[in-house]
Amino acid sequence: MGQQLAGKVAIVTGGSRGIGAGIAKRLAAQGATVAVTYQASADRAEELVKEIDSQGGQAVALRVDSADGAAVRAGITEVAQRFGKVDILVNNAGVAVVAPIDQIDERHYERMVSVNLHAVFHASQEVLKHMGEGGRIITIGSVNADRVHFPGGSVYALTKAGVAGFTRGLAREVGSRGITVNTVQPGPVDTDMNPADGPFAAYTVPLLATGRYGTPDEVAGLVAYLAGPDAAYLTGATVNIDGGYTA
Ligand SMILES: NC(=O)c1ccc[n+]([C@@H]2O[C@H](COP(=O)([O-])OP(=O)(O)OC[C@H]3O[C@@H](n4cnc5c(N)ncnc54)[C@H](OP(=O)(O)O)[C@@H]3O)[C@@H](O)[C@H]2O)c1
Repeated sequence: MGQQLAGKVAIVTGGSRGIGAGIAKRLAAQGATVAVTYQASADRAEELVKEIDSQGGQAVALRVDSADGAAVRAGITEVAQRFGKVDILVNNAGVAVVAPIDQIDERHYERMVSVNLHAVFHASQEVLKHMGEGGRIITIGSVNADRVHFPGGSVYALTKAGVAGFTRGLAREVGSRGITVNTVQPGPVDTDMNPADGPFAAYTVPLLATGRYGTPDEVAGLVAYLAGPDAAYLTGATVNIDGGYTA
């Protein structure tokens, strides 16, 4: 694998498991120093750091609750102080509560909005203090920002549509600094959140042109491209990687 991210410092929020872990491994394999955040899975995060280390990469794990805006800002500052800068921010941490509107309570709503949406604002605003020419902000949204083919996804869709709008607005502001801002919208990807043999698979798989779920590694390939030098002219975009879910 090419080392096009050599010398770069990356933060991947929610990097202990799933898509975030796949992204962290890919960015490290391409030469970036990677800081992953997590909330509950300290063991999984430490395993990931060891795996990256064993392959000659550089990684650290930090417990940062994305639901806590002040903690998100402190986490970004800590990484910037430790490594001197931040070149790549991947806003990946996310939670999904799928339930009809009359069963979404205040706690579910607050959690989804704080982790999926508010944390993206806090992390992006903070990281821009430490990001120079060539910087990249990449947020993992969801195709559910545009299409919700099932009941119970209203608040999740609200958060994912929000980050896509935020991306467009922010891209306008930082383009002159040589910084790009993009949203990656995965379709169904096989993780703890949405296992390929889980409850959503039966009605989701027939909607996929590929007839199968995606993998974290497939999403990671797109994120690594957006993080790299070839994507300098790609900004303000919402890029679907969804097996044809929205086709
Ligand atoms: N899987 C899909 O089909 C799919 C499709 C479209 C979009 N997405 C989006 O892709 C992103 C990753 O999803 P995934 O499928 O990989 O989910 P996952 O397997 O459930 O992993 C979620 C990750 O986010 C972290 N996280 C959750 N709450 C957090 C918090 N409060 N603070 C810090 N970290 C937190 C988790 O850390 P802990 O291990 O510490 O809990 C974990 O590393 C999310 O934004 C999700 O909405 C997923």
